[in-house]
Amino acid sequence: MDVASNDYNSFAESYAAENENNLVNAHYERPAMLDLAGEVTGRHILDAGCGAGPLTAALRERGATVTGIDSSAAMLNLARQRLGENVSLELADLRDRLPFDDETFDDVVASLVLHYLQDWEPTLAELRRVLKPGGRLIVSVEHPVIAYMIQEPLPNYLAVNSYSFDWTFGGKTAHMTFWRRPLHAMTDAFTGAGFCISLISEPQPDPAARELFPDEFEAMATQPNFLFFVVKAVPPSPIAKP
Ligand SMILES: C[S@@+](CC[C@H](N)C(=O)[O-])C[C@H]1O[C@@H](n2cnc3c(N)ncnc32)[C@H](O)[C@@H]1O
Repeated sequence: MDVASNDYNSFAESYAAENENNLVNAHYERPAMLDLAGEVTGRHILDAGCGAGPLTAALRERGATVTGIDSSAAMLNLARQRLGENVSLELADLRDRLPFDDETFDDVVASLVLHYLQDWEPTLAELRRVLKPGGRLIVSVEHPVIAYMIQEPLPNYLAVNSYSFDWTFGGKTAHMTFWRRPLHAMTDAFTGAGFCISLISEPQPDPAARELFPDEFEAMATQPNFLFFVVKAVPPSPIAKP
């Protein structure tokens, strides 16, 4: 990966401000994640790549106990300002072993973070480890056809490939590198890590956003944007009795 890429510390405030009320995050991605999570009262949820914590906050408002992790200290500082001292937030990189015991969480939400990772295998193994048997991993990622067909045509849809671009938020430009995976590479990674796939979704933005974003809404409602998964940690099979 281009090491100069994806430095959220350098544009944390501008990214978080944009994410707060825009169409793509506030009226499309976040409502879709919350919809997939459903009733969460009393559940212990890990928000993996929590950023400034908007999903953490929304899940907490719905009665969950949420722990957030992120590899950017600046994003975590913003999450801390939003969430106060009573929420567990930890600096952690999803490429490393996670600082939690086995079977700690009922659910993991990973919102728009897995496409920063070249190799999903160690990360999914860790997320599987910290989930209780039967626990859910709820994921949103960049849709694999975006980079292939729309943003910057790539030569091979079926390969895992990276692509880089500049993102500008509130006047700050950041160099980003995403890892684009074809659908089969995502489903193979989930099942290979011990998850069964419950649902794959290409949801619609919140219809109420049409009035707020008359110029952007139609494209959001008709083109691929993100892909969403709910996968479940398969309980270990019972040991065969002699
Ligand atoms: C697009 S933002 C999404 C933030 C949040 N999930 C949301 O939806 O508002 C991606 C976040 O993933 C974090 N991130 C990127 N790579 C990471 C990694 N390897 N481990 C942990 N967090 C990572 C970034 O610091 C950033 O906060």
